[in-house]
Amino acid sequence: MKVIIFGATGMVGRGVLRECLLDARVSGVLTVGRSATGLAHPKLREIVHTGLPDLAPIEAELAGYDACFFCLGVSSAGMSEKDYRHLTYDYAVAAGSTLARLNPGSAFVYVSGAGTDAGGRAMWSRVKGETENALLAMDLRAYMFRPGYIQPLYGVTSRTRLYRLGYVVTRPLYPVLRRMFPAAVTTTEQIGKAMIAVAAGGAPGRVLGPADINAL
Ligand SMILES: NC(=O)c1ccc[n+]([C@@H]2O[C@H](COP(=O)([O-])OP(=O)(O)OC[C@H]3O[C@@H](n4cnc5c(N)ncnc54)[C@H](OP(=O)(O)O)[C@@H]3O)[C@@H](O)[C@H]2O)c1
Repeated sequence: MKVIIFGATGMVGRGVLRECLLDARVSGVLTVGRSATGLAHPKLREIVHTGLPDLAPIEAELAGYDACFFCLGVSSAGMSEKDYRHLTYDYAVAAGSTLARLNPGSAFVYVSGAGTDAGGRAMWSRVKGETENALLAMDLRAYMFRPGYIQPLYGVTSRTRLYRLGYVVTRPLYPVLRRMFPAAVTTTEQIGKAMIAVAAGGAPGRVLGPADINAL
């Protein structure tokens, strides 16, 4: 299976990339982002593209893939709805519609988050919900991952400074969190493995919370 990862330099994307490089079912990985991961691996190819969300200049390189793991995203903290919508909806929909045209029926896993709801009151939740709905309507095997708390493993760190600081505090608490809230907690490793499982064999539903992700 050949996969494309958007956001491979981030916390979630980096964890997903690690699992893809380790998994024998994945024969090739293409990362697309405004910066490179800097990793070298025989299965890995990177495209640094600063013109996102416009994929037209690199479109020829995106054909022939079986799955896309879309891990690019930003925190809505301090952002206007217009800017957040652009970085969330426009980026994901541009990737989804391009890949639906180039690789119809391929798997597309989008990372939204627990609490995502197109009819919700919170701005981020509505925008992510609308993004999910747009992707689910495309000619893709689209799956929405809605993790809650994610424990980064194997040295993976968040690109968001506030979250990096938060993880310093929560890291020692993770074993307790996992025991107390098993249905709300997942790890970068479990997310990566679940994405590969979904792309390879499908899932019981199109919208998957932390417990579904861990089960996969
Ligand atoms: N972390 C969590 O606990 C958590 C929980 C639930 C859901 N999520 C969701 O999971 C997704 C990924 O989160 P994360 O924690 O991995 O975030 P992160 O560590 O901040 O990484 C964000 C990724 O998005 C890319 N990106 C951000 N803005 C960009 C832009 N303007 N143009 C191109 N690329 C851009 C970053 O690229 P650069 O390296 O070039 O900046 C990086 O690869 C987000 O949608 C988030 O809402 C996260």
